[in-house]
Amino acid sequence: MIIAVDGPAASGKGTIAKALGRHYGLPVLDTGLLYRAVGLAVLKTGGDPDHEADALAACTFKDAVLTEPALRSEAVGSLASRVSIHQSVRQALIKRQRDFATQPGGAILDGRDIATVIAPDADAKIFVTASVHVRAQRRYQDALSHGGHPDMDSLIADIQARDTRDMSRDHAPLRVADGADLLDTSNLTIDAAVQQAIAMVDAQLERRRKG
Ligand code: DC
Repeated sequence: MIIAVDGPAASGKGTIAKALGRHYGLPVLDTGLLYRAVGLAVLKTGGDPDHEADALAACTFKDAVLTEPALRSEAVGSLASRVSIHQSVRQALIKRQRDFATQPGGAILDGRDIATVIAPDADAKIFVTASVHVRAQRRYQDALSHGGHPDMDSLIADIQARDTRDMSRDHAPLRVADGADLLDTSNLTIDAAVQQAIAMVDAQLERRRKG
């Protein structure tokens, strides 16, 4: 079975995807890491993330890059969003994601276009969202706990810029797929959000079983 989890930055989709992975015993791919690896590679080689040829050349990164802590920074998230608008970059990363999705036994993928492009026939689809303020607050707490000195206004501006770019790009823009359930985590604890996600997946699987 394939479970697709999509949503904007800091919506909680990664946490939910991992919890679903534990619940259903399925492997999870955070597809944002692939775009982050491309963004980081462009940065390291001194390329221009807005230049399609530079971004495409960076798609040959090694798997080991996917575990680099540097991938997790907001700066690399923003670079990832910029390289992800290029159609050739998206194409270069498709096979890896589809191979993961179709592995025997099933899989969970989280990202922006899983239910719309990568696995439109997924058995269950969830779109995780939260208000911009709540998402910025999560980033703020996260940065504080890592010894950072975050600025709330710039976090809000970064999230809004990323939302706008991810939702308005020409290729595979972020949107709620047909048949996806919307899960707003703004006022939910992690446990409550996970319980709702499991209930949504179970209900979608049941509906499919009944045809
Ligand atoms: O989920 P994330 O914040 O790690 O993603 C970083 C960026 O990568 C995101 O702003 C847009 C891009 N991305 C994408 O275009 N498609 C995906 N399936 C996953 C991420």
